[in-house]
Amino acid sequence: MKIAIIGTGYVGLTTAVVLAYLNHDVAAVDKDESKLNLLHEGRSPIHEPGIQSLLEEVQHTIRFTPNVAEVVPEAELILIAVGTPPKKNGEADTQHVEQAAKEVAQVCLPDRHYTLVVKSTVPIGTNQRVAEVVAEVFSERGIPGNISIASNPEFLQEGLALQGAFYPDRIVVGANSDEAIDTLRRLYKPILEQTFDPPSEFPRPSSYHLPPMMTTDPNSAEMIKYAANTFLALKISFINEIAGLCEEVEADVTEVARGIGLDGRIGNKFLQAGLGWGGSCYPKDTAALLGVAAQSGYEMPITEAARTINFRQRDRVIEKLRSTLGTLKRKTIGILGLAFKPNTDDIREAPALDIVRELIAAGATVRAHDPIAIGNAHRALSGNGETEDNKVIFTEDVYELPYDADALVLVTEWELYHKLELRRLAKQMKTPILIDGRNVYSPEEARAAGFHYIGIGRA
Ligand code: UGA
Repeated sequence: MKIAIIGTGYVGLTTAVVLAYLNHDVAAVDKDESKLNLLHEGRSPIHEPGIQSLLEEVQHTIRFTPNVAEVVPEAELILIAVGTPPKKNGEADTQHVEQAAKEVAQVCLPDRHYTLVVKSTVPIGTNQRVAEVVAEVFSERGIPGNISIASNPEFLQEGLALQGAFYPDRIVVGANSDEAIDTLRRLYKPILEQTFDPPSEFPRPSSYHLPPMMTTDPNSAEMIKYAANTFLALKISFINEIAGLCEEVEADVTEVARGIGLDGRIGNKFLQAGLGWGGSCYPKDTAALLGVAAQSGYEMPITEAARTINFRQRDRVIEKLRSTLGTLKRKTIGILGLAFKPNTDDIREAPALDIVRELIAAGATVRAHDPIAIGNAHRALSGNGETEDNKVIFTEDVYELPYDADALVLVTEWELYHKLELRRLAKQMKTPILIDGRNVYSPEEARAAGFHYIGIGRA
């Protein structure tokens, strides 16, 4: 199938590469020249396990261009995967989605049928708005136009994006037209029936079952995306709230999570207590959902509480450091991990950045390590002057992190940190205090290595 994808961010590029791998004829459009330059050289602008090699594998069947008019007229299906950044009031800004829809409608051929699919995460009702924008352009052009519009929310997790795209739990399609549903069923046929040869880096999991394609109305499809993210966000916030109480009553939250997770109704995923969620999705999407609710005058206290608990986790680490060290003034704190989660260099809404900023504001010096996100973190912190006067020192070698440090805080649970020689780290520190913000280490082992160990929700 001939496909045009507008936007080559995490969603757009992953989708483009996977659909090209499935033998579709893919053209991806982006206005960002620096991104296009990289893509033309066959290099991925995002860090995502496996994407570089897959991009190289499909480079003869995928095209990148800044020009909608070059690819849309011949396409059968057009996917919009542009950003929906938060407005000042938290609502998601859909101007790029509407603009993309407008540009598509301007270049559609009058005598052809197209399916236009919104993949971006958008407020409920956007599908309808896109239909209006398209109709306005057709009427200006004086043509009847022939476009079916659908909503196909994306559930990719950064760091696991390709795995999730080849082996999804489900595909959700919201559309009022049978034609759009049929086109999307044809698009995803190799995934729905798992008829493709798995790429060597992504073998088909032995326990994997064929995914359902759920079809529904567009508003419900848009709501499914927000509700899924908000539910996952509040599951994490719930276990973090329990973690706080565990500390008060000398229980261990990792044991509690294991015990409740064995209940099939609860499930053991997304019950890892720690520094809470960051990234470009949960903070933005929970705020956007509250924005949608506010417009209807509807209160969502559970969603509000999930946010409050989440951001409180970051402050609690600072409190733990203060109560252990007395003051943070002139102390040196080592930060293990800057990315918002492992296997990505994405630092958007990363807990580490807030913690670093609070430490600097309290008069501490920060030493920070991350396997791949140092460049992005450096840029983000430089903007506010936090990297000036050596207030934040980035170390490429993790064993250089603890020099003279008064405490270490593990913020991101990179695989590398699971295997650290704790004794070697502890030996170099002024005071060997370890705040394990993701409960990665066994308290006994950390203590045996010489650390004063403090986890999250562990007595
Ligand atoms: C999330 C969803 O998982 C995807 O399904 C969705 O498509 C995506 O948002 C999106 O809307 O684009 P992502 O933000 O990439 O994906 O990452 P997650 O793996 O969900 O993790 C989010 C945050 O939760 C991370 O900061 C992680 O450290 C934290 N987390 C996760 C916990 O604190 N505890 C857990 O048990 C799990």
